Amino acid sequence: MPGLRGPSDYSQEPSRHPSLAINAKEPFNAEPRRRDLVSSYITPVEFFYKRNHGPIPVVDDLDKYSVSITGLRGSAIDLFMKDIWKLPKYNVTATIQCAGNRRTAMSKTRPVKGVGWDVAAIGNAVWGGAKLADVLALVGIPNSSRVTPSGQKHVEFVSIDKCKEENGGPYTASIPLIQATNPESDVLLAYEMNGETLNRDHGYPLRVIVPGVIGARSVKWLDSINIIVEECQGFFTQRDYKMFPPSVDWDNISWPTRRPQMDFPVQSAICSLEDANLVKPGKITIKGYAASGGGRGIERVDVSIDGGKTWIEASKSQKSGAPYISDHESSDKWAWVLFEAEANIPQSTEIVAKAVDVAGNVQPENVDAIWNLRGILNTSWHRVQVRIGHSNL
Ligand code: MTE
Repeated sequence: MPGLRGPSDYSQEPSRHPSLAINAKEPFNAEPRRRDLVSSYITPVEFFYKRNHGPIPVVDDLDKYSVSITGLRGSAIDLFMKDIWKLPKYNVTATIQCAGNRRTAMSKTRPVKGVGWDVAAIGNAVWGGAKLADVLALVGIPNSSRVTPSGQKHVEFVSIDKCKEENGGPYTASIPLIQATNPESDVLLAYEMNGETLNRDHGYPLRVIVPGVIGARSVKWLDSINIIVEECQGFFTQRDYKMFPPSVDWDNISWPTRRPQMDFPVQSAICSLEDANLVKPGKITIKGYAASGGGRGIERVDVSIDGGKTWIEASKSQKSGAPYISDHESSDKWAWVLFEAEANIPQSTEIVAKAVDVAGNVQPENVDAIWNLRGILNTSWHRVQVRIGHSNL
């Protein structure tokens, strides 16, 4: 691809914030500290988790860079950045969460395969770009199309990075055509993050943002968009990011029996406390995030200071100054809420959080019921242990 290339080694990686916890160095996978994650509603770019499967691509010449759209009636159409900039620009506040968020905790029940993550493989940003629905309309696919006249039902995104899972080939994913062409789905070809040009780690010059869906489908460093009949056949769609039942192990796994994961389930985590804390007896503030997939708002966040025997309801917020009302036009539909509760902690205990979304979906109590060999979608109640201590405080 002229203008954009995927290096085969890690000699041209961008610099990153020193406070990030590095879960894997090459490819670079890192997350912010819990307290940094909830210090603001919009996650600063440097504190946004970075999830990569290969070396970060390099833009040599932005003017030469184009996205090739194939599978249309005629020949492929190349769209350059100037063509994309001409389309109406939308700013969508959306939370992106990796399906592997909280994998480290899942692996404590039984080992799982994959990069370990604490609770911060999630972030909330304002993504600026063109709607994919507008881009597809521009090349002749009308809004809200479920199937094209030639029977194509999926839109595939192909990157330029070299991933070892693909034997050096690019990262790929697909979404249904109806989601891609429905303007209400807010799927973007994003060139900005929090009002600034996208940086290299997050997909410069152009990435897909699929709100409400696991991060794996939001392909970075976009090279081509293919209109296809069946969903993407790539590794990350067919042999990864699927949720298996607890009974499936590496000896009896059959990948085609499960659908690729799309929406993420309701999730929450406490971020003002680490896994083991020494606190003074008395009042503490418990802060964290809650989010659900598919644009479902958060109805409630319950916090317990006695390991889940009794609960208090936390307050929820998004933008400062406006109360959060789930499923209301004043709220950011695709974004997380931050929650906060105060409680008196007289003795050492376990603090727990669980969220409920507007559909009434609740986080499961334990990992055991949802354990899966790839360690995805750990949405079990988030628990932290606190010990009352007087020394050094
Ligand atoms: N796109 C490409 N090209 N390569 C990747 O490795 N990782 C995916 C997705 N898009 C990935 C990609 C995964 S698994 C996630 S969770 C998100 O990007 C992470 O996006 P971020 O690094 O901007 O947080």
